[in-house]
Amino acid sequence: MNVRIAPSLLAADFSRIAQEIQDVEKAGADLLHLDIMDGHFVPNLTFGPPVVRSLARDTRIPLDAHLMVTDPDPLIPALAAAGVARIAVHVEACPHLHRTLQSIGDSGIEAGIAVNPASALSLIEDALPWSSFVLVLSVNPGFGGQDFIPESVERIRRLRRMAGDSLDISVDGGVCRDNAADLVGAGATTLIAGSEIFGAADRARSIAVLRQSADHGESR
Ligand code: DX5
Ligand code: ZN
Repeated sequence: MNVRIAPSLLAADFSRIAQEIQDVEKAGADLLHLDIMDGHFVPNLTFGPPVVRSLARDTRIPLDAHLMVTDPDPLIPALAAAGVARIAVHVEACPHLHRTLQSIGDSGIEAGIAVNPASALSLIEDALPWSSFVLVLSVNPGFGGQDFIPESVERIRRLRRMAGDSLDISVDGGVCRDNAADLVGAGATTLIAGSEIFGAADRARSIAVLRQSADHGESR
C-alpha cells in the first residue's frame, strides 16, 4: 500500500488559507486533514461545515474531517454535503458507534474511528468491519505542535495485527521525519502532519522528506 501524506490544516496560517492549501496541493499532498473541534470534547475551537464548504470549493485534494466533538451525529450530513471525502469520529464520543459509522457510510463517504492515546484498542475491535480507516491519535487531541507519544508505534503494530492488511491506519499528532519510518514500519498507511509540513518554509521539501522516511519504513 502506498503511504499517503495528509497535511493538517490546523498548523497553517489562517489569514492566507487559500494560498496555504494551494501550496500543499502543488507540493503533492494526498489528503487535507481538517480538525473540527467544539471546545467541549477538546479544549479548543476551530471551524464547522460552512468553512469546510468554502475550502472544498478551492481545492481538489480530498478532505479528511477529524471530528473532535462531543456530539458528532448532527454534523455528519452537513459535512458530507460540504464535500469531505471521509469523516473520523472518536470512539470516546460515540455511545452508538455502529449507528454513527453507518450514517457516515450512508452519506456516501468513508467512515473512520479515531482513538485517543489512552483508550484500549479492544474498544474499536468489533467496529472494524464498518470502518474504512482508523485514526490513531499519537498526542492528546486539541492542539497542534505537541510531542509525539512514543508508545503509539506499538499501538499501531497491535492494531495492524488485529485489523489485517486492508484497513487504512492513519496516525495523527507529532508526526515528523524522525518517527515516520517507525510508524510506517509498524503498519501506518497515512501520515497526518501539521507543524512538520506547514511549519516548514518549503512544504514540497517537507512532504518529500516524509515520503522518503515512509519508504524506508515500508522496506523494513
Ligand atoms: C491534534 C490534531 C492534529 C494536529 C496535528 O488535535 O488532531 O491533526 O493538527 O498537528 P501536529 O502534526 O503539529 O502535531
Ligand atoms: Zn486531527
